[in-house]
Amino acid sequence: MNNLHCMLIGKVAIVTGGARGIGGDISKLMAENGAHIIIADVLDEVGAEFAKSIGGVFIHCDVSKESDVESAVQLALLSKGKLDIIICNAGIIDNGRSITNLEMKNVASLINVNLNGVIHGIKHAARAMISLNNKGSIVCCTSSAAIMGGLASHAYTLTKGAILGLSRSTACELGVHGIRVNCVSPHGIPSEMLVTAYRDHLGKPNMTIEQVSDMISKEGSLLQGRCGTFEDIAHAVLFLVSEEAGFITGHNLVIDGGYTCASGQLRFVYEK
Ligand SMILES: NC(=O)c1ccc[n+]([C@@H]2O[C@H](COP(=O)([O-])OP(=O)(O)OC[C@H]3O[C@@H](n4cnc5c(N)ncnc54)[C@H](O)[C@@H]3O)[C@@H](O)[C@H]2O)c1
Repeated sequence: MNNLHCMLIGKVAIVTGGARGIGGDISKLMAENGAHIIIADVLDEVGAEFAKSIGGVFIHCDVSKESDVESAVQLALLSKGKLDIIICNAGIIDNGRSITNLEMKNVASLINVNLNGVIHGIKHAARAMISLNNKGSIVCCTSSAAIMGGLASHAYTLTKGAILGLSRSTACELGVHGIRVNCVSPHGIPSEMLVTAYRDHLGKPNMTIEQVSDMISKEGSLLQGRCGTFEDIAHAVLFLVSEEAGFITGHNLVIDGGYTCASGQLRFVYEK
């Protein structure tokens, strides 16, 4: 593998939802590896300050609006003349419960951000990459909820499953242009989003990030005393966009401490 700190020299990358959380660490690690980062997010102040701190730029971008995503891609083309990488990471979660009470308005808003946001990202990034014939790499952030039921609301789960399908179908089309499309599926990373979801779900509004991390370390991973971190996801993404992953496309890299490969019951059998 190349020197870890020069894997992306000269590359231009957009990270949607890059102002904080998983997207923040992906942006930071890719910048440390030489990429010019465009953070596309709705968190204007936080995003602008963070982008500056990593030598990148910020653009206000609501991924549910196609024209906003198109503008982010245009910014890359106008300022740097190309786009090599897009990380479609922006996402939201809800606390919907039973299918029998599913609020279609709620489903629509999750589809708008989580799924349409990724469609917009792949569409406009691919257009730019194809027109410049510069190949490229697209990574979409899906979730352990895309491959295992019961981890999140129906609305969130269906958006993440659809991202998986879309990334595979676009990988099939875009391979001839040298564009790779892959997914990462994180599980149980204590971010603002996850902590809020835990608070809502458990009815404990004062739960701290440490308490959530502790719960996940005990129940949400096969690796004792370990839950996933932003850095775990960032390193996986860095690998997927690097030359070293040049023969990998249509892949879903699950980063879950083994959670989705085993049932709780099986673990119990081994412990006897
Ligand atoms: N944290 C986890 O355990 C976990 C697990 C599986 C998947 N994910 C996925 O990882 C991604 C990042 O989530 P996170 O955990 O870092 O949460 P987060 O809430 O910390 O970060 C999400 C980011 O997306 C941005 N965003 C939200 N709506 C947007 C919109 N309409 N347009 C542009 N940006 C928008 C937010 O402002 C924020 O910066 C999401 O797609 C999430 O579904 C997270």
